Amino acid sequence: MPKQVITDQKIADHVRRLGDLYPPIALDSVDRTVKRPDLVRDRFGHILNYLARVELEVDRNVLELLVLLPDVDETNRMFYADVWQPQEIQHGLILDRLQQDLGMTQAEPVLDVSFKIKVLGALANLRPIQDVARLLYFLTGASTERQAVLAYNVINDGMKQLGEDAISETVITPIKQQEPGHFAFYQMSATAMIQQGRLKPWQMFLARVLREKSYNLVGTNAMPQYKADMGGVITGLGLDDDLEGYAREIGRVEARLLWANKKGMEVPGYILRALRESVDLYRERLGRGVAPA
Ligand SMILES: [Fe+2]
Ligand SMILES: [Fe+2]
Repeated sequence: MPKQVITDQKIADHVRRLGDLYPPIALDSVDRTVKRPDLVRDRFGHILNYLARVELEVDRNVLELLVLLPDVDETNRMFYADVWQPQEIQHGLILDRLQQDLGMTQAEPVLDVSFKIKVLGALANLRPIQDVARLLYFLTGASTERQAVLAYNVINDGMKQLGEDAISETVITPIKQQEPGHFAFYQMSATAMIQQGRLKPWQMFLARVLREKSYNLVGTNAMPQYKADMGGVITGLGLDDDLEGYAREIGRVEARLLWANKKGMEVPGYILRALRESVDLYRERLGRGVAPA
């Protein structure tokens, strides 16, 4: 693939375009008619419950961003304040209503910023550390948004197969359309930092160490019960058949940017380990006879 130069202007234009193209989805614009609620609940209830929570946690993600990047620039501010948060919070509210229609309990987002983030945030007052935090933030965004894209694709196919057209067309499709733009923002931002040589070798080294130690699948918040829930989501979406392929998909950006010179790093090992751990925790829980959340 020819190397594309990502300029700051290109990223700013992308953010502006996303804002213009995709206003937040209004609650009353969706049709939550479900033809076969029992079937949809059985198949997708726990997945919708998980995603509703993750989407609603955007408010914590914004707080984390402000802790990690105290000197946030205008493009990043515009992205999280005018595009990302307003879009994601609507995804959360809509999915939460849908899953409650199906008889699931209301999502309970974790809104407290973790101690680890606060520590990194305190260190991020030092500019060189903040640049490391910024790269990690973009890589996290790229990986989690990619997970969202893949999940919504599978859910949408499943809803269509079940003949749940209203949900597919007015809920999942509009949400699904907004995720690739988020992914592209993070991917471009991380790529630009590397292309512009913003990090010295010691900062790249630190970024690799921290990434390997702190990688978490979307919404797991480093907590075992959410890891097990995520294992249920992965299994429910049928992604457990090829965890390596899935790891490659959600780790492609960092494999290229962080580990380009490391042989055999096409699939970052820590991502594959996180996936296996989640699926194992889920199976263990099933074995103990606890129903999925
Ligand atoms: Fe979303
Ligand atoms: Fe998103």
